Amino acid sequence: MNDLLAGGRAGPVSPAAQPRRLRLTPTIRAMVRETRLSADELIYPLFVRHGRKVQNEIASMPGVFQWSPDLLAAQAESIARLGIPAVLLFGIPDHKDATGSESCADDGAVQDAVRVIKKAVPELAVITDVCLCEYTDHGHCGILNTGDGRRPHPHLPEGYVLNDETLNVLADIAVSHAEAGADIVAPSGMLDGMVRAIRSGLDAHGFEHIAILSYSTKYASAFYGPFRDAAQGAPRFGDRRSHQMDPANAREALRETALDVMEGADMLMVKPALAYLDIIRTVRDRFEALPLAAYNVSGEYAMLKAAAANGWLDERQAVLETLTGIKRAGADLIITYYAREASQWLQQD
Ligand code: PBG
Repeated sequence: MNDLLAGGRAGPVSPAAQPRRLRLTPTIRAMVRETRLSADELIYPLFVRHGRKVQNEIASMPGVFQWSPDLLAAQAESIARLGIPAVLLFGIPDHKDATGSESCADDGAVQDAVRVIKKAVPELAVITDVCLCEYTDHGHCGILNTGDGRRPHPHLPEGYVLNDETLNVLADIAVSHAEAGADIVAPSGMLDGMVRAIRSGLDAHGFEHIAILSYSTKYASAFYGPFRDAAQGAPRFGDRRSHQMDPANAREALRETALDVMEGADMLMVKPALAYLDIIRTVRDRFEALPLAAYNVSGEYAMLKAAAANGWLDERQAVLETLTGIKRAGADLIITYYAREASQWLQQD
């Protein structure tokens, strides 16, 4: 038995086991590094709207903007030049109504943006968010059980997001995004059967080749706050707890994921990332055949930006550590508002 463990004089603990030998120099540390980040697993979200020369910064997300189509070609070029393979588009419509009709319009903000980006940089993959919350005047993710002072479904609560009525609209949105040239559609509403409905809609219109990245495990999270400023899609009343998952639940993530896989999802997602690293690990282990994305959401970005702006954190180190943690937990792809800065920092390494 060695001296230290025996309570004797401090000496070498065990000459055979000293992990610090492999931390001695930057070169050795790099040689034994288990997780490596690279720009080609990052996805950059973009907020798009109508107009010309619009570049509105989001107050709670410094460095993130709403863009009009005429400025998007230059954005797409600079994103692709950084080695980022894909963008995820969110649209802010000019006109909101009860059924979110602009979401499927051929000249909608997302549809216009897709065409501009695909024309400017065909190799940049364009993923589109498929949901109604940005498009409805009430800010909910679907058609509500309400209207003309009556409830179409008298046994369901007033204001309930109607599942099947909404599925048809989601399929129409996905088809209109595919028609504009989207490569991948990403339904984010957490409605039951949304992947199946979108898959059949796409197939029926000749888009068998368009993949679905499902927001398969999406929690009802406080960390979406800044996004709702950016996309102007906060619910006017109530919340999203009747469709997004309860943060307390882990086993339910397996049920949600299994259903989406069965319905034809091509890629999976866990969202948000940081409070849900255990879920990322579990989904990665249990559904090992499908690519898994993690969404490092707006509130997670805002926290780091705010701390960095106050000089409380070294932004570069904190961001790369955060993204490395998400990857180490099991994510293949990370959707992050830090994609551009992280890619630049990685190039400098
Ligand atoms: C819904 C959607 C939301 C986010 C992505 N898609 C908001 C919500 O569910 O309330 C949040 C993303 C983020 O916070 O960065 N269309």
